[in-house]
Amino acid sequence: MLKGKEVVLGVSGGIAVYKTAELTRLLVKEGANVHVIMTKNAQEFVTPLTFQTLSGNPVSAELFDLSRRSEVKHVSLAEKSDLLVIAPATANIIGKIASGIADDLLTTTVMANRSPIIIAPAMNVLMWENPIVQENIKKLKKLGLKFVEPGTGYLACGYEGKGRLAEPEAILKKIKTLLK
Ligand SMILES: Cc1cc2nc3c(=O)[nH]c(=O)nc-3n(C[C@H](O)[C@H](O)[C@H](O)COP(=O)(O)O)c2cc1C
Repeated sequence: MLKGKEVVLGVSGGIAVYKTAELTRLLVKEGANVHVIMTKNAQEFVTPLTFQTLSGNPVSAELFDLSRRSEVKHVSLAEKSDLLVIAPATANIIGKIASGIADDLLTTTVMANRSPIIIAPAMNVLMWENPIVQENIKKLKKLGLKFVEPGTGYLACGYEGKGRLAEPEAILKKIKTLLK
């Protein structure tokens, strides 16, 4: 179903990063060509090697990368993307995008991107319920970005409530709907 589709998968620094490894596998299984961008903080949770192996493509993380002189990474990734999905999306990355900040490879690629954007937030329930986070989400929804709502239940931080990353299958379903 996703054969020939170029999917840029942004990974930010939340505990749910491990679930994005499964999302990568599902996307590849569906035929998508997956290009993973990790924030610096995401790499504290899972190494790029995991995503490189699962996607079959190099993982990008550096905005200022001198290894490919002929290519400006954030522009080339944005240009080729049929869809950009961020999972997990931290409160921080949501806030940065909502404020128009472009200070790393992921946020700069979002700024240059013209394809549909899906955001799958994941965070502690106290962060999720923070009106600042909710206002940022409201703003991004108004601007046309799509969201996959987090689930409710036991959170890795020991709390109970809303903030669990949506299941990889649910995120895949949203991707398929938008790429139809
Ligand atoms: C163990 C641990 C787990 C974290 N989990 C989350 C999370 O699930 N969601 C979130 O928004 N922030 C989480 N954070 C905080 C982010 O890592 C922090 O805000 C960071 O600046 C995010 O950077 P990034 O958005 O550039 O990846 C966590 C931090 C730690 C130490």
